[in-house]
Amino acid sequence: MKKIVFLPALIGLGIMYVYPAHAKDLLINTPRTTLLLQAHEGHDLRVAYYGSRIEASDVAAVYAAGALNRSAYPAFGAGCQDETALSVRHADGNMTLDMAVQGSTVAEEANATLTTVTLKDRLYPFTVDVCYRAYKNSDVIETWTVISHNEKKNVRLQQYASGFLPVRIGDVWISHLHGNWGAEAELTAEPLQPGLKVIKNTDGARNTQTDHPEIMISLDGRPEENRGRVIGAALCWSGNYKLRVDTRGKHLHYFFAGINEEHSEYELKPGQRFTTPELALTYSEEGLGGASRAFHRWARNGKVHNGTALRDILLNSWEGVYLNVNQENMEEMMRDFSALGGELFVMDDGWFGEKYRRVKDNSSLGDWMTDTVKLPQGVPALVKAAEKHGVKFGIWIEPEMTNSKSELYEKHPDWIVCPPQRNPIHGRGGSQLVLDVSNPKVQDFIFGVVDHLMQENPSLYYIKWDCNMSIMNYGSHYLTADRQSHLYVDFHLGLRKVLERIRNKYPKLVMQACASGGGRATYGLMPYFEEFWVSDNTDALQRLFIQWGTSYFYPSCAMAQHVSASPNHQTGRRIPLKFRFDVAMTGRLGMEMQPKTMNDQEKEFTRQAIATYKEIRPVIQQGDQYRILSPYGNSGFCSELYSAPDKSEAVFFAYKMENFVNQFTPRFRMDGLDPARNYRITELNRTGNPAGFEGKTFSGKFLMENGLELYMGGEFASKVLRLQAE
Ligand code: GLA
Repeated sequence: MKKIVFLPALIGLGIMYVYPAHAKDLLINTPRTTLLLQAHEGHDLRVAYYGSRIEASDVAAVYAAGALNRSAYPAFGAGCQDETALSVRHADGNMTLDMAVQGSTVAEEANATLTTVTLKDRLYPFTVDVCYRAYKNSDVIETWTVISHNEKKNVRLQQYASGFLPVRIGDVWISHLHGNWGAEAELTAEPLQPGLKVIKNTDGARNTQTDHPEIMISLDGRPEENRGRVIGAALCWSGNYKLRVDTRGKHLHYFFAGINEEHSEYELKPGQRFTTPELALTYSEEGLGGASRAFHRWARNGKVHNGTALRDILLNSWEGVYLNVNQENMEEMMRDFSALGGELFVMDDGWFGEKYRRVKDNSSLGDWMTDTVKLPQGVPALVKAAEKHGVKFGIWIEPEMTNSKSELYEKHPDWIVCPPQRNPIHGRGGSQLVLDVSNPKVQDFIFGVVDHLMQENPSLYYIKWDCNMSIMNYGSHYLTADRQSHLYVDFHLGLRKVLERIRNKYPKLVMQACASGGGRATYGLMPYFEEFWVSDNTDALQRLFIQWGTSYFYPSCAMAQHVSASPNHQTGRRIPLKFRFDVAMTGRLGMEMQPKTMNDQEKEFTRQAIATYKEIRPVIQQGDQYRILSPYGNSGFCSELYSAPDKSEAVFFAYKMENFVNQFTPRFRMDGLDPARNYRITELNRTGNPAGFEGKTFSGKFLMENGLELYMGGEFASKVLRLQAE
């Protein structure tokens, strides 16, 4: 019998009780999945099974049928012929580990069960806690490790992945995201072939502009949206990462994920603990879509800050006026947006700098005092104006950065990331520099930027937190010579500390993570941010691809999607306002343009679309997403549906991406409805005559099996249908 030990001190942390786990088979269960570990004391910790949920009574069958039976956290040394998760140099120079299970505990938390297995080296006082947090309200298991030792001198961590998972060989495919500025989150799918597949990042500051630290592993051949077994994995880290899939031999693919250890050896003092970032795993039998919905649910339930709060509709000033902000045009935009039904106005870049004014993008970052030429009465006057016009107010900052032309840099030249011995290479504007966030003084400074804005403007509602430069100069004035290799890691641990301080003091402040567009769509930061800017590319056609890819891992409530001007500023494409709205409405809707340039008809459409979005906002932002027709499918069409968790309501979107004579138009089937219920259909954002199905009722079964014929007209036609169960 398990002895339950009550630890009242932990109750305040949300932990209810902790008890030692005696069984050698540890079932790590979510509602519909199980990870089975074998934890014999004195032996290697092994993974036996990961898949659909099993119970204790099934364990014997798992072993009888043939278990995965691989080390759960492979370490270099004993068994050094394979890829490993952990590799160290001990204080005496020995480079091997030989880890054995010492014991394990299980702790019940409010929404999860935390299982910790302690491994100890057979020779050295070196310990690893392998942790598994299994959620009760989503099918996600987070795994990470806590590494520590009591050797006489420092131990050097050379590789320190968060987790490992063996995957049985078969027709296994991986899907992952890559891209670049303005084309983030492009989807790629490929079968796993023999050899090592590596997805990694070396940017230093942002980590999702090119590849993403997430992956879907489809076990039953070519990935499908709603069919087949899929393992999803997301590394929750904002710095350099490395995902590896090693395919060798005939039995297994070996999947590793963690901080990218390149140029990042970490000195661990005796008694110091190093915690690796969480690797979130999910398993679904409902294809990619099932894995995505599990991630979305997990995100809304805690991995995204305030994940269950409904997001406001905002207007951001960037594409409307760029750096030319002033009191008059800001007020004008607030007034015009408010008249359209908007809720929040955000002043972007260009509002700051005293000695060096931010007139171009080559100066002033770090000097977060108002440019009184542009804004004579400062930010408080804008907050007041927003109140007058009935909108909330938000502001842009880029607090981890400076310019060589700034008072901050003049005062603190040693605060930048750069080897003390060299001249820095500059980024944007030929003068941008990254601040050394590993330095506690810089951390205090960044906290102070937000704190000062909040003290001065207690009703400031929203901050857009940007980050527009990679670490282009490796080196720290702050870190000692023997710790220079900590920079990539300590930068992000420092950033986390700052964000924790901000969140402790300002839990209600809404924050957006931005990094030259979608460079910070990462679960490493989402616990501190409500949302991220999906891309600087606001072209509605390309956004279909970018948003589709991003939605593999991120929920709609976190995806900032803005309607911008036509022709589009990034691609020059002309797209009707309706299509632009219909594309932006699948996430957190916003606008990124000058409202006064719209004609009366456009204003009227916008007013109605905003009112409509307010009605469907709960389903879009908190519902389950079903991707149906992929924009990557070359059909020229794209469709998806958002369904309320109880399936009482849904919103369906269909887009026509190209136009040819005699083009085949599919019949649009739906997904994610209750087959047994009847749904009444209303077309939203309608510009033409009502279709035959308008106001009519269809069963969920019919809509999922047969779907509807939609007359889609020419290029960039779109339809939005609201389905309400009767
Ligand atoms: C980055 C962001 C943009 C905008 C500009 C301002 O590029 O992605 O949205 O805020 O900076 O300089």
